[in-house]
Amino acid sequence: NSLDGAVLFIFGATGDLAKRKLFPAIYSLYKEGKLSDKFAVVGLARRPKTQEQFRNDIRSSIQEFSRYNEDEELWTRFADHFEYQSLDTQTMDGFQELNTLTQQLESKFGLGGNRLFYLALAPELFGGVAHNLKAGGLLDSDGWHRLVIEKPFGYDLKSAEALNEKIREVFEEEEIYRIDHYLGKEMVQNIEVVRFANAFFEPLWNNKYIANIQITLSETVGVEERGGYYDQSGALKDMVQNHMLQMVAMMAMEPPSRLVPEDIRDEKVKVLRSIRPYKTDEEVREHVIRGQYAEGQVKDKTLNAYRSENSVNPASSTETFFAAKLFVDNFRWAGVPFYVRTGKRMPTKSTEVVVEFKNMPDNVYFAKKTNLQPNLLVFRVNPEEGIYIKINAKRPGSEWTIIPVAMDFCQSCQVGFNTPEAYERLLFDALRGDSTYFTRWDEVSNAWKYIDHIAQSWSKDASDLQMYPAATWGPDASHELLAKDGFKWWPVH
Ligand code: BG6
Repeated sequence: NSLDGAVLFIFGATGDLAKRKLFPAIYSLYKEGKLSDKFAVVGLARRPKTQEQFRNDIRSSIQEFSRYNEDEELWTRFADHFEYQSLDTQTMDGFQELNTLTQQLESKFGLGGNRLFYLALAPELFGGVAHNLKAGGLLDSDGWHRLVIEKPFGYDLKSAEALNEKIREVFEEEEIYRIDHYLGKEMVQNIEVVRFANAFFEPLWNNKYIANIQITLSETVGVEERGGYYDQSGALKDMVQNHMLQMVAMMAMEPPSRLVPEDIRDEKVKVLRSIRPYKTDEEVREHVIRGQYAEGQVKDKTLNAYRSENSVNPASSTETFFAAKLFVDNFRWAGVPFYVRTGKRMPTKSTEVVVEFKNMPDNVYFAKKTNLQPNLLVFRVNPEEGIYIKINAKRPGSEWTIIPVAMDFCQSCQVGFNTPEAYERLLFDALRGDSTYFTRWDEVSNAWKYIDHIAQSWSKDASDLQMYPAATWGPDASHELLAKDGFKWWPVH
């Protein structure tokens, strides 16, 4: 299962993403034999660095973040594939030099001109890099050329369009791999399989049997060192535009006719197009809740308020919590609310998708005064990976007492199970040209259309922003959102 050889260019090679995710991912792929020895990695960033410093940095990133233990012999072979070049991405100067270095690496490792450009950079720089790659001759080799880009893809529809146009002047849509790392997660990919490969679920997967769907993505961290970025972005653009809407799409999509990237992405786009936009301020207020963490307490530790975090405006009205009720206006989902919530400084780090089924008619058991709970199907994405099903059964030995029992399949609890990180999967997919779990332009643009209405309404007046103490589940209004419909957030594990 190894690949054709390629050169991987990491722009932003001294950044956090490269250190935490990309280098460890490349190491895992190498260790598992998926990369063979036919590859080279060129690290690029402005800062001057010797090859030795660069390799030392990579080594410490692997020691700290890899899911594999270090292996001296493997490391020596691995490190030989890495080179560093200091480069100002916005001027042409270094790009010809980069091309020469690339050709040398291609002949050293016997590579046929396949080149993958990974931009772990601020999006303002994407367009300039794309143009310089072309002008510097880096796209003239035989073999394929692919551009992998990180989010945020713009900050609204207009800026995303401008960005896309710039990139498209150089790369074709098929060559562009837009990362949403949630799509690289094992259990997010598993949604599709559980839905379409089980006779249990697909026949019930509609508004006749499903009462609501809930998606929770909670984090315990605050904004850490990313205050500058986050204060401009907020939960809506940082998490909802991408990860949350992608999970909604995976849950709501129709079965694709074939398991090929374009068919799957066509179905996801239809969902994104069907999400009812909230166009007036009243609609936004009624269906969308925003919150911001205030000071809070975990055991004897005091957690800062968001407004006191580094690089955050002390009067900021940026949301660190988002909850909404949304509707997918199509035949299958008419009338089924999708409740989504995400926030920083919540009590636990967890991602779960819950399908709550409608209750059975209660005439049979009602007379017995039993309290039937709805059936639940839960995808546990994080921190544990698994599936959980809640059904009703008789309490053993009792006459009529009905209790919910759980069937809990914890995939990540299995001995020796060590699932690949999202970035490993996505890098591997980009290298082998599989774009299934990358977002296509029409997905991104439709997601922005939905987000823009909310952002525009919010920008007029922030009086609906509600504070919540750090390490709690967000403002009460998020609970009321469901209570109004007779539902509640199911607790996450
Ligand atoms: C990123 C966001 O996309 O996802 C971060 O920018 C967030 O703010 C992160 O912390 C969460 O990802 P994960 O994989 O840790 O759940």
